[in-house]
Amino acid sequence: MKKITVPEIQRMKERGEKITMLTAYDAPMAEIIDESGIDMILVGDSVGTVIAGYPNTLPVTVEEMIYHTKAVCRKVKRALVVIDMPFMSYQVSIEEAKRNAGRMIKESGAEAVKIEGGISVKDVVKAIVDIDIPVVGHIGLTPQSIHKFGGYKIQRQREKLLEDAKAIEEAGAFAIVLECVPEEIAKEITETLTIPTIGIGAGRYCDGQVLVIHDLLGMLGDFRPKFVKRYVDLRSIISKAVKEFIEEVKTGAFPTEEHIFRM
Ligand code: KIV
Repeated sequence: MKKITVPEIQRMKERGEKITMLTAYDAPMAEIIDESGIDMILVGDSVGTVIAGYPNTLPVTVEEMIYHTKAVCRKVKRALVVIDMPFMSYQVSIEEAKRNAGRMIKESGAEAVKIEGGISVKDVVKAIVDIDIPVVGHIGLTPQSIHKFGGYKIQRQREKLLEDAKAIEEAGAFAIVLECVPEEIAKEITETLTIPTIGIGAGRYCDGQVLVIHDLLGMLGDFRPKFVKRYVDLRSIISKAVKEFIEEVKTGAFPTEEHIFRM
């Protein structure tokens, strides 16, 4: 099986081949996604909301990101694995950002880091790229800036988004996530940049698409952003199975002869 590399992601844009990316936070899910043929796996700091139940991504730590990414990397054979740099792991100083990025790559097994922000993190991105750690940028709705934005809001400032995208490309990032950006602006950014754009709520013209795996599988209840397509309602399927288990234990229908050991 051929491993997907950073240069291969760049070549996919050049060939006009769409790039697929999903999040994963644990070994069994990473194995299923990888075996299904995904190009990139993101261990997102969305682990905080999706797995840990925090109200936002801000409490997530470097240690938590490393723990989950190690689990993912143990099972991934083909996809390129990207680890999110959590809030306050790259904002204090360039030295600290380099130290954290280096530690996250060294200890987790991921092949690239993702950093939220545009012009404001340009120097950080460049410094990390200069120590040969591949970087994915992330602009538009950057969840670590939720308090500044006053909520999860669509980002519509065309000039600012274009400037941010160009700054991240110039800093040396090899791909960039565009989150919750109008389709027209995402299209213009995709046509302007030479690096691939990977959209989430950014329309049809990005070079690739990313979704949170639990959204795609319908596991997060009523939370349903407009850009998410649910490919299955796993929450109902799991709930049905759990209710059947409860019923069978209560009534003595489980376990049966086939599930027991004898002397
Ligand atoms: O943390 C995450 O899952 C992300 C994706 C939504 C792009 O950043």
